[in-house]
Amino acid sequence: MSPDEGVKPIVLLLGEVVLAHAEWNALSEIAELRQVNHGTREQFLNDCRAGVYEGVLVISRTYDSTQITGRFDKELVDVLPSSLKFVSHNGAGYDSIDAHACAARGISVSNTPGAVDACSADTAIFLILGALRRIHIPYTALRAGKWRGNMGLTHEPEGKMLGILGMGGIGTAVARRALPFGLRVQYHNRSCVPEQQNITGAKYVSFEELLQTSDIISVHLPLNASTRGLVSYKEFAMMKTGVVLVNTARGPIVNEDALVKALEEGKVWGAGLDVHEREPDIHPGLINNENCVLLPHVGTATVETQRKMEVLVVENVRSALERGRLITPVAETRKMMANGFTQVQELS
Ligand SMILES: *[C@@H]1O[C@H](CO)[C@@H](O)[C@H](O)[C@H]1NC(C)=O
Ligand SMILES: *[C@@H]1O[C@H](CO)[C@@H](O)[C@H](O)[C@H]1NC(C)=O
Ligand SMILES: *[C@@H]1O[C@H](CO)[C@@H](O)[C@H](O)[C@H]1NC(C)=O
Repeated sequence: MSPDEGVKPIVLLLGEVVLAHAEWNALSEIAELRQVNHGTREQFLNDCRAGVYEGVLVISRTYDSTQITGRFDKELVDVLPSSLKFVSHNGAGYDSIDAHACAARGISVSNTPGAVDACSADTAIFLILGALRRIHIPYTALRAGKWRGNMGLTHEPEGKMLGILGMGGIGTAVARRALPFGLRVQYHNRSCVPEQQNITGAKYVSFEELLQTSDIISVHLPLNASTRGLVSYKEFAMMKTGVVLVNTARGPIVNEDALVKALEEGKVWGAGLDVHEREPDIHPGLINNENCVLLPHVGTATVETQRKMEVLVVENVRSALERGRLITPVAETRKMMANGFTQVQELS
């Protein structure tokens, strides 16, 4: 930024602002705001190559903008303008961005951790209770004029062991919400719980022990190369018969063919899924299984949370413009930022 010349840095919005209009518009005092809210990946790539976005310092992108540009994979990241230093992404999960490719080009990426915790955790609890009660059966039976349908007797959470896979912000919020239902809680995480964070009293166990001893397993991991297909045939085989599986994180962490087989064999008693392997396509083996509670990736679809997320996205943009750094950078580009701007410039 060179205030002397009065030239404002450029911020490019990919997608739409839905709720934080005031916060977004206020950025126009310190930046020139541009927007792309339609088009195809082909067009976007061509425009990037043609230098249409040269001068853009920050990209602010929505989750749905992947429908316009496709993933921010290496192909796309490689043609982003050389002026670009920051990507402020709206979402806790950022698997639609190749953050390593961004880091290699000196581009820092932020996501929206924290903002989604309460809402995502509510969805997980809803699906845990829904799967235990096989809620899909009476829901649909009633509307079909069949009263309770063939529901049979179901289960309740009291005294069951909930295994949380991934104890970040969302996993922790699930653990807190689980306690009043009488659930016991254990978890597996890449790092152990620091003492001061052991608020929920949840026990740390290995991945294998979590699979073998949980009555309910709830997935709260990010999707990346090491978590893709993490819960598959071998893992289902290790689980207790009658286990309930809930996934509100990302579909591809669970192998759906393996889940369908485990449901059909009765290994898995019920499943609650907000996310799917090939969204918006749903596995026919899940659609046709009455023991599944299925949602179309609506875990954070509330006014309160969408607003918190958009505000944090704008705050990241503002921080990038005013202080040259993001507030909530993702792990892959955090190290790069710690090395300072010189390093960033050398890399780009
Ligand atoms: C789980 O691992 C993540 C990533 O290392 C960390 O941020 C989080 O604090 C850990 N959670 C616990 C409860 O240790
Ligand atoms: C957290 O607290 C529970 C209950 O006091 C204990 O069993 C568990 O080992 C603690 N976890 C860690 C990682 O300290
Ligand atoms: C993927 O995420 C897991 C869990 O947070 C982490 O332990 C792992 O290092 C990540 N892997 C890659 C390839 O980024």
